[in-house]
Amino acid sequence: MCSTMIGKVTLHAVLLAAGLQAPVAVAAPDGKALFESACVACHRQDGQGGIGLPLTEKKFVRLSDDYLYKTIRNGRPGRIMPAFDRLSDAQVYAIVDYLRTWSGTESFNGAETVISGDVANGQKLFAGYCVNCHGPAGMGLDKGTGQSYSRERDFKVVPPAVGNTGFLRSASDAMLKDVITNGRRGTLMAAFGKIGLNEQNVNDLVAYLRSLQMQLSPPQEEKMMSDASIIVDSPENFDTTLENLKQALSGYNFRVFPDRLLEKGLFPEWEANKKQMTIRYCNFNDLYDMLKIDPRLGVGLPCRITVVERDDGQVQLIAMNMTVIARLFNNDQLRDYAVDLDNIQRQILEEVTF
Ligand code: HEC
Ligand code: HEC
Repeated sequence: MCSTMIGKVTLHAVLLAAGLQAPVAVAAPDGKALFESACVACHRQDGQGGIGLPLTEKKFVRLSDDYLYKTIRNGRPGRIMPAFDRLSDAQVYAIVDYLRTWSGTESFNGAETVISGDVANGQKLFAGYCVNCHGPAGMGLDKGTGQSYSRERDFKVVPPAVGNTGFLRSASDAMLKDVITNGRRGTLMAAFGKIGLNEQNVNDLVAYLRSLQMQLSPPQEEKMMSDASIIVDSPENFDTTLENLKQALSGYNFRVFPDRLLEKGLFPEWEANKKQMTIRYCNFNDLYDMLKIDPRLGVGLPCRITVVERDDGQVQLIAMNMTVIARLFNNDQLRDYAVDLDNIQRQILEEVTF
């Protein structure tokens, strides 16, 4: 241990002396600023929770950095929590570090072993103990949000979707076991390991939750995502197409980026490729207010249309096929909303390529 430390320090010194060390000019991403621009709209300033689940010190002591990292990356598809796939690794780690410093906690290290159990029995137990809060197949109650509509009044947290692929891809077996056994203090999530379920029961539940993840297998999901793009040719050149798109969007009363998220470097590739530009026309800043009116508006989050110029000069617009995305939702109202959004988006594309 000691000798590797010295080894590292020496290597560092040698690189520095040889001028090979990366220049210090690139400032490390500011985790606090990133959290404030990307997360507080839903999780609130001190993590007390709002639309998003509370992010508290009590909770963090039971969560690993790996889980936090993956949760930010994967989001919860079909729920409100977005996948922050455009942040760099350094930015995501900066947010995780910030959450750790601010909550004064350290990464929870559960064993990384795979827990095996009886899926059929787990399913039975889930139907008996969990379904009333977490919904059939853990898809969440018919709200599509992490918080109840009436949060301002009674501060009740709507139970998260524990069968959600984004959640299951982020959580280790050890974490699932830990949450089910010990619960979440101060929330509706009880410590089932202390009120009637033995260790084998808990393992069966973990195995059942894992089986839910398999039901939407990655290839199927990828296929869905590839069907999920609408690609149309533009008759105009790149700049004109971009301008027309922005105009069409503001004609539909969408607020178009750039705004302060971009200034803060949240989407660094915005400027990286001049012939590929993604226009985002939803905005986290307004989101909190919007969601207070109607949490279903959160599905507007993926609103983005990308303009690209192919090598042969043809300019194309790429949008998401919201009706395909809508199949990932577990909620009829959300599906209807996605279909509406899809119609508006098609009208916009038609206007731009007419
Ligand atoms: C009375 C309602 C209720 C019941 C019953 C319940 N839960 Fe929960 N569960 C919750 C709430 C609320 C949370 C979120 C608490 C928080 O973090 O603030 C939660 C969190 C969880 C989490 C963590 C999810 C995440 O996003 O971090 C898992 C896993 C979980 N529950 C599994 C189960 C299982 C398995 C059962 C059945 C044995 C069960 N729950 C029964 C309300 C419930
Ligand atoms: C648009 C709202 C929204 C934004 C923005 C958002 N979240 Fe969330 N977040 C949620 C919701 C809702 C959930 C609960 C998931 C569910 O409903 O199943 C959640 C869950 C989480 C969880 C899991 C908590 C647990 O108990 O396991 C973490 C960690 C988290 N968010 C961190 C973040 C971070 C960090 C950011 C910023 C990079 C962020 N979120 C941005 C809405 C949001």
